[in-house]
This record gives sequence, structure tokens and C-alpha cells, in this order.
Amino acid sequence: MVIYVCDDYGKMSEVAANQFAAHLILKPNSVVGLATGSTPEGMYSELIEKYKKGEISFKNVVSFNLDEYIDLPKENENSYYTFMHEKLFDHVDIKAENINIPDGNVKDFEKYVKEYESKIESVGGIDLQILGIGKNAHIGFNEPDKVFLKKTSVVDLTQSTIDANSRFFDSIDEVPKKAISMGTGSIFKAKNILLLASGKSKAEAINNMINGEIDPQIPASILQLHSNVVLVIDKEAAELLDEDTYIRV
Ligand code: GLP
Repeated sequence: MVIYVCDDYGKMSEVAANQFAAHLILKPNSVVGLATGSTPEGMYSELIEKYKKGEISFKNVVSFNLDEYIDLPKENENSYYTFMHEKLFDHVDIKAENINIPDGNVKDFEKYVKEYESKIESVGGIDLQILGIGKNAHIGFNEPDKVFLKKTSVVDLTQSTIDANSRFFDSIDEVPKKAISMGTGSIFKAKNILLLASGKSKAEAINNMINGEIDPQIPASILQLHSNVVLVIDKEAAELLDEDTYIRV
């Protein structure tokens, strides 16, 4: 695991966008796994700038989003569908047919999650997976549990995640209680993982993920076993780490 620690959110976004861009330059037809949440927003803005300057293109990129709320219409301002279009897709040259975001409004979820998983496999798997991290160390919507979630599934959100995500909704009652999420197993299959974190509220999750036991109660801890993980975090998120374990940029 390579850990880059940046001064602040702006620098974190810039370093993460450089990492992302390097992958697209090396492999323009990359399959990317994308994340939502406040953390990657700055990175997406930086990527849009790089696209506008002609430094990168999404023309041959295929994307798969990690997760989506269940029973929230995709036009809703809080759906991850809306988020991804507003924050990235509407501003770059990605082809609509190459965008995959779990659909939280299908009838047969059992069939749908299997198809989502197979579709990732049919394009050769994910080259670069972007991740944020929840305060309870969840990745995607893989919440702390007795076992690691292997495949894309329908999941119940924990109260801590519902509370954290209620900041985007008018009231906590409007926050969906279920989501579709790629499993920890599906995430782990990605060839490269780029995880971003910013702020003091993520410091404990980051420390547990790196230095804790590998335990499904700390979903991100499984990444200790992955051979290509890059962390780009700011100094507040890194405050519980030993200085000699990271690269200061
Ligand atoms: C949500 C998303 C995760 C994200 C996490 C942290 O629950 N499903 O993919 O990493 O929140 O979000 P934020 O970056 O806003 O702190």
C-alpha cells in the first residue's frame, strides 16, 4: 500500500486526479470503478479540467459505479445517477452506453445484481477502482458485518451511514435505508485501487483500515491484502498514522 499525504483537500484532489489521469494515458480504454460522496468531487473537477485542456479523454473508457440507493428515482437530486452526471459525465466525452450505474428501481434485484457483476467480468474486470471511505470504514455500501460481502448485492444501510448521508436530504426520514452495492469481493478484484479520504472524521477509519485486524467489521481492512492500493489522503485523515509509513506530497 502506497500512502500519499497531502496538505489539504485541494492538494488531495489534484494528486488523485494525476493518478487517475496517468491510468487513462497509459490505457485509454480503461475500465474504471467510480465512487460518489463528497470526497472524490474535487478529483472529478480536476479531471474535467484535464479533459478540457486535452490532456485526457474518456472516449474509450467504460465505467461502473460502486453503488446506488434503492427506491430513489434516478432523477432525484440525491441519486448517485444524478451525482455522477453533474459532477463528471456531463462534462467529458464518455459514451452514454459505456456508463454503468446500479439501477435502484428494478423489479428483480436478484437477477439484476448478478447481471451487474457479470457485465464487469465481461469487459475484463476493473482496471482502476476509486474509493472513498465511510466513518465506519465502509467502502461502497459494504457496511461492517460478520462476513465480507462477496458480490454485488442489496444491502441495508447502518444507522451511522444513514445519519452521515442525511446531510444531503431535507430530513433523515428521506434517506433511503437500502442500497445496491458492489461487494467487497467485487471491489477486491480490481487491478488497481485508489482510495481517497479527507478530514479528521476519517482518521480513525483510515488508521483501522491500515493498522487494524483484517475484519469484516472494518470493511476497508481487506485492502491490506491487495497488492495495488494507493491512498491519497489529507493530513487530517492521516493524523493517527506514523509519519514513516507515508509519503508527504
Ligand atoms: C457513501 C458512499 C461511499 C462513500 C462514503 C463516504 O456512503 N456510498 O462510496 O465513500 O459515503 O462519503 P463522503 O466522501 O461524502 O464522506
